[in-house]
Amino acid sequence: MQSSDTAFQQCIRPECGKRYALGEALVACSACGGLLDVSYEWDRLTPPKRLADLQGLWSRRSDPLAFSGVWRFYDLLPFAPRDRVVTVGEGQTLLQSADSVAKFVGSNPGRLFLQYEGMNPSGSFKDNGMSAAFTHAHWIGAKRAACASTGNTSASLALYSAVSRLMQAVIFIGSGKISYGKLSQALDFGALTIQIAGDFDDAMQRVREVSQRLGIYLVNSVNPFRLEGQKTIMLRVLEALGWEVPDWIVVPGGNLGNSSAFGKAFSELKMLGLIDRVPRLAVINAAGANTLHGLYNGQGLRWNDGNVDQAKITAFYRTMDEEKRRASTIASAIEINRPVNLDKCLRALATCDGVVRETTDQEILDAKAQVGAGGLGCEPASAASVAGAKQLVAEGVIGRDERVVCILTGHQLKDPTATVAYHTTDQEQFNKVLGERGVKRASFANRAVAVSNDLDEIERAIQLDG
Ligand code: F0G
Repeated sequence: MQSSDTAFQQCIRPECGKRYALGEALVACSACGGLLDVSYEWDRLTPPKRLADLQGLWSRRSDPLAFSGVWRFYDLLPFAPRDRVVTVGEGQTLLQSADSVAKFVGSNPGRLFLQYEGMNPSGSFKDNGMSAAFTHAHWIGAKRAACASTGNTSASLALYSAVSRLMQAVIFIGSGKISYGKLSQALDFGALTIQIAGDFDDAMQRVREVSQRLGIYLVNSVNPFRLEGQKTIMLRVLEALGWEVPDWIVVPGGNLGNSSAFGKAFSELKMLGLIDRVPRLAVINAAGANTLHGLYNGQGLRWNDGNVDQAKITAFYRTMDEEKRRASTIASAIEINRPVNLDKCLRALATCDGVVRETTDQEILDAKAQVGAGGLGCEPASAASVAGAKQLVAEGVIGRDERVVCILTGHQLKDPTATVAYHTTDQEQFNKVLGERGVKRASFANRAVAVSNDLDEIERAIQLDG
């Protein structure tokens, strides 16, 4: 079986580098505790000679692998046999050139692009990775899969379980921490939903313990197969740009799976000679959940050729616990203080000459309103990418004429509460949802016009607006 002897799992720490067979369900190296990669023996495989050769596949819509925005790039993630792939048609997403958002960010017209991952079946980028994790889980015979989630991973897991009927979904969420849009998906799709008195970081720790004890397959992004699927977001960006590499990829940072996957994608493409340069990477934290920013910019933590200063991370978390700091942001999807992929993200930042920034809830919501006004819309966490790009252009780190792609990770309808509170005329509602988070203004609010049930008054309201 080609895919089992040409791919393996491997600890990312160079001084360890322990290898594991693909058939093992692991989320950390059993020798040193490091994160794992899926690695390939490329010289025994048949990667494409040119990326453009993959493009024609999309026209074969009747072939589920060619139709999938993940699996039409199979040759760049060939870990499982083709006939074992689980797909629900994920990855039909769009790269939009967004000039109104470019103006807001400070980029020149035609230079800012939005990658709408909210167009996935469950409404977020997670489906890219879930398809890959499900493929692995099913291939090795798992019957139950679990995750901790701020809402999107759980929606995705629940959807894949419901559609494929291959696995029972068990999801762990923090209490009161998940938006209704996302919670409703998990419930609707029939997932066993466990609400823990705690936040995401607590749920993450518990799900790791429980899945190990009960032998449940874990689909959080510590699962290296998840990230193989998420590499394809970058392949679709390149595809939409006619296989040209942009100057910048800007992505929100929560558990840091996406940024890690993007770095791996570019380092593999470069190594295979399929691109001649890698883009720069900007990872944007919410200011209320800014561990990466604190460690990268505050403490100078770096990948350092694989010798990440773990003592620095431990000390950072100790102080965080002593000060009882919990993650808190309107961008609930990235309300995470202990990002599980920290080391891999540092590697991606090294590969892509990356930068890290934090952005306030005010900046996130203003950016989100601009994205919505410009087109398809996104949830708050996604808009951190646009807010971060604006900051980096203002600093002169991103040039106005550089080609920038902001990843919009989740759909607008995932979190209507934040959107309605931003646009509301009801000051009390604004204060309740946003005021407590330090959001003072809704500069780009589109307020509903209240009128009595009177024809003349309605007519006047419409004419005034025109
Ligand atoms: N944007 C959205 C909409 C998300 O749902 C998440 C993560 C992120 C960004 C951050 O991505 O973890 O790869 O850095 N959501 C996870 C969840 C944690 O449980 O749904 P990351």
